[in-house]
Amino acid sequence: MSIVGSIYKIAGPLVVAEGLKGCVMFEVCKVGEMGLMGEAIRLDHDRAYIQVYEATEGLKPGETVETTGAPLTADLGPGILRNFYDGIQRPLERLKEAAGDYITRGLSVPPLDPGIIWNYTAVAKEGSTVQAGDILGTVPETKVITHRVLVPPGISGKLTKVREGKLHVTDVVATLTKEEGKEVDLTMSQRWPVRVARPYKKKLDPIIPLLTGQRIYDTFFPIAKGGAAAIPGGFGTGKTVSQHQLAKWADSQVVVYVGCGERGNEMTEVLDTFPLLDDPITGEKLMERSTLIANTSNMPVAAREASVYTGVTLAEFYRDMGYDVAVMADSTSRWAEAMREVSGRLEEMPGEEGYPAYLASRVADYYERGGRVITLGSGEDRMGSVSLVGAVSPPGGDLSEPVSQNTLRVVSVFWALDSTLADRRHFPAINWLRSYSLYLNVLADWYKKNVAEDFQDVRTRMMTLLQKESELQEIVQLVGADALPERERLVLEVARMLREDFLQQNAYDEIDSYCSKEKQYMMAKTILAFYDRASKAMDDGLPFGKVETIPVKDEIARMKYVPNQEFPERFKTLLKTIEDQLSA
Ligand SMILES: Nc1ncnc2c1ncn2[C@@H]1O[C@H](COP(=O)(O)OP(=O)(O)OP(=O)(O)O)[C@@H](O)[C@H]1O
Ligand SMILES: [Mg+2]
Repeated sequence: MSIVGSIYKIAGPLVVAEGLKGCVMFEVCKVGEMGLMGEAIRLDHDRAYIQVYEATEGLKPGETVETTGAPLTADLGPGILRNFYDGIQRPLERLKEAAGDYITRGLSVPPLDPGIIWNYTAVAKEGSTVQAGDILGTVPETKVITHRVLVPPGISGKLTKVREGKLHVTDVVATLTKEEGKEVDLTMSQRWPVRVARPYKKKLDPIIPLLTGQRIYDTFFPIAKGGAAAIPGGFGTGKTVSQHQLAKWADSQVVVYVGCGERGNEMTEVLDTFPLLDDPITGEKLMERSTLIANTSNMPVAAREASVYTGVTLAEFYRDMGYDVAVMADSTSRWAEAMREVSGRLEEMPGEEGYPAYLASRVADYYERGGRVITLGSGEDRMGSVSLVGAVSPPGGDLSEPVSQNTLRVVSVFWALDSTLADRRHFPAINWLRSYSLYLNVLADWYKKNVAEDFQDVRTRMMTLLQKESELQEIVQLVGADALPERERLVLEVARMLREDFLQQNAYDEIDSYCSKEKQYMMAKTILAFYDRASKAMDDGLPFGKVETIPVKDEIARMKYVPNQEFPERFKTLLKTIEDQLSA
């Protein structure tokens, strides 16, 4: 039952309404004559403080406010993929069709297009008993993703009617009779409150990496399937390119891209560039297995606050079907800023740098929604995962600010973008000395079994060389490289090779853009083999000057441009050339 009150005060995106006794926290309200959508975020006697998702210009005190009895929800069903939404899951394209060039406020367009006819195949048989998470049927949602229509959480019983064929998302596909005899009609879609994590059977340990084809991540700082990573970086250091690379190449089947821009052009960037990305894995457009949430510049901050929850809810929904889903949020700083603005309007006691005191718990709650799980459903275990990658844009690149700090506290992987590296055009500009992955140990076994027995040693040796380089560089700055002992000059040379020939990876090069795990390992082995063989040669009296100019180094520098499948052959030749040239 809805409660009707009236506007008492308007402060930007925040509307205070009175006469709303009975309204509950996070209840969605329709505000003003236009029926703008908002959410109650504080209650005080009969007053509700409502953050409004649409521009509040023109609202007047005294206009009516009506509760809806429901929290902010997402509509889950076929049609999410290939779609672009705003922060509260309004489909941007159909909204535009309905409203012309500017969005008419108060307009509501269903997130799942009711006009589309889907080819629905029933899986669960009439007469069978099903429980939450069981597959009712399937729909070819896009060219590359089969949508599994599931029994929604909290529902179980006997299927008394089953349909299939060409159906709309709102058509009944099954009727279920609950134990107590009550009948429930199920459609292809379900609704879920975005601020609540969707249930699963069991959370699993993060023991499988989310491979990305990017050497700095996979070899040095891996993220697990179901893990969480942060990419903090100052202006122009490569946050967006990194997120696009991950979206394209990570071995997740579904991608949810949440663009939290502030400046108008940032959002156009997302809307203009992301849909054009090709999917190298399927040969189709990346949108065929992605959904995009973009906060357009004409939407107020409150929608930006909601957008990450909408995004992660859509991700959990595909996880429940048994997919590995990756959520890219670019950037979570804009989300936190939205929180700060709303909190400021509420006149809450500000915490650090004006952010609300609950910033830490909101950030933690968000990343808590990641994970690899056994989904609901009877029968054989179905596994799915949500991996969360959040870009953070700290002002001035200074990581001591609250959003970076609170994020680093909860994520297990830290990919530190570095403006010095970006200025030197070392891409991806991830600082290898400051980044870390807490998954290294839990993933060690997987790498051992699936890449190479000595994978961990190889990684450690490379890291040691890079660390040694950074120590030596301090001396070099004082006395110059020529003053160093020959062996240390070799270390510097090999570390340079590691940086330039291994860590640098060009996102725009057709071949280098993706590097298989096998190729990563063999590339690393090549450079280490060079180091070992050169050390030995120098033991036998070869001067460093000769090592420095040896031709095989050029071939090593070209490794990254050798196609993945041709690499094993090249690896053999390279090892032989190293041996031949250094023994000559
Ligand atoms: N892996 C990469 N390979 C090649 N070039 C890269 C790579 N990463 C970043 N770049 C270069 O750096 C530029 C800036 O990257 P990007 O737009 O991702 O930065 P950003 O951190 O998202 O910036 P902003 O703060 O404006 O959002 C790119 O246009 C590209 O030229
Ligand atoms: Mg960017």
